[in-house]
Amino acid sequence: MDEQRAVLLLMLLSLSAASPSPSNLALNKATSSSGQHNKSSSPSVVVDGDQSYSFTNPSSGRFCTQCFLSTLSDNPWWRVDLGGQFFITNISIYTGAASYTIGPFEILSKETSGNLNLTDDYSQWNVIQNVSTLVSTYEYPLPTAVYAQHVAVMEKENPLNPENQQSLVLTEVEVYGFGE
Ligand SMILES: *[C@@H]1O[C@H](CO)[C@@H](O)[C@H](O)[C@H]1NC(C)=O
Ligand SMILES: *[C@@H]1O[C@H](CO)[C@@H](O)[C@H](O)[C@H]1NC(C)=O
Ligand SMILES: *[C@@H]1O[C@H](CO)[C@@H](O)[C@H](O)[C@H]1NC(C)=O
Ligand SMILES: *[C@@H]1O[C@H](CO)[C@@H](O)[C@H](O)[C@H]1NC(C)=O
Repeated sequence: MDEQRAVLLLMLLSLSAASPSPSNLALNKATSSSGQHNKSSSPSVVVDGDQSYSFTNPSSGRFCTQCFLSTLSDNPWWRVDLGGQFFITNISIYTGAASYTIGPFEILSKETSGNLNLTDDYSQWNVIQNVSTLVSTYEYPLPTAVYAQHVAVMEKENPLNPENQQSLVLTEVEVYGFGE
């Protein structure tokens, strides 16, 4: 981060104390994933502004309605392109139901576009938070704002079941922050 940007960040942080809450930068933005389960809604429901969800009997058609369920794989991921670069200050993640948890998982960010596939280009992403517990709601006010265009959530191998692949379930991800 250059000096000008650091100064701007300080200004934004002092502004944010006085101004109303920032907007959800992820709302209706472009999303992608490592793979969508065939009983799942598309990854875009995770940024539809609606935290509701519905899990139905898998035998009766779509299992995950208004929520995203990944295919079972190693380190499944979901990501959103904020459409521009922002100072991210707060991220909220919801699976939708207390009985559907994620974890351990990582929240990642990337400042630039290109090489966005976390399966191939994991090393090009920054891990901004590493969550080792199982959660259904996770709110993360960043200790220091992170400048990024892309935000991702990746389910990691559970040390208790290292032989098992993982699936990621999300009903909503909200990303708050400020533009330049
Ligand atoms: C969904 O995937 C399961 C196996 O994972 C398969 O048996 C089933 O035929 C698939 N359904 C559709 C509609 O593709
Ligand atoms: C990411 O890369 C993997 C491995 O090369 C590939 O199988 C997968 O289709 C890619 N996913 C996306 C969303 O491009
Ligand atoms: C995340 O946390 C786990 C368990 O605490 C640790 O093993 C792992 O190395 C951490 N990963 C990163 C990228 O910090
Ligand atoms: C972060 O977002 C959550 C959910 O909108 C909100 O409850 C919380 O107050 C926010 N925290 C900060 C520090 O902005």
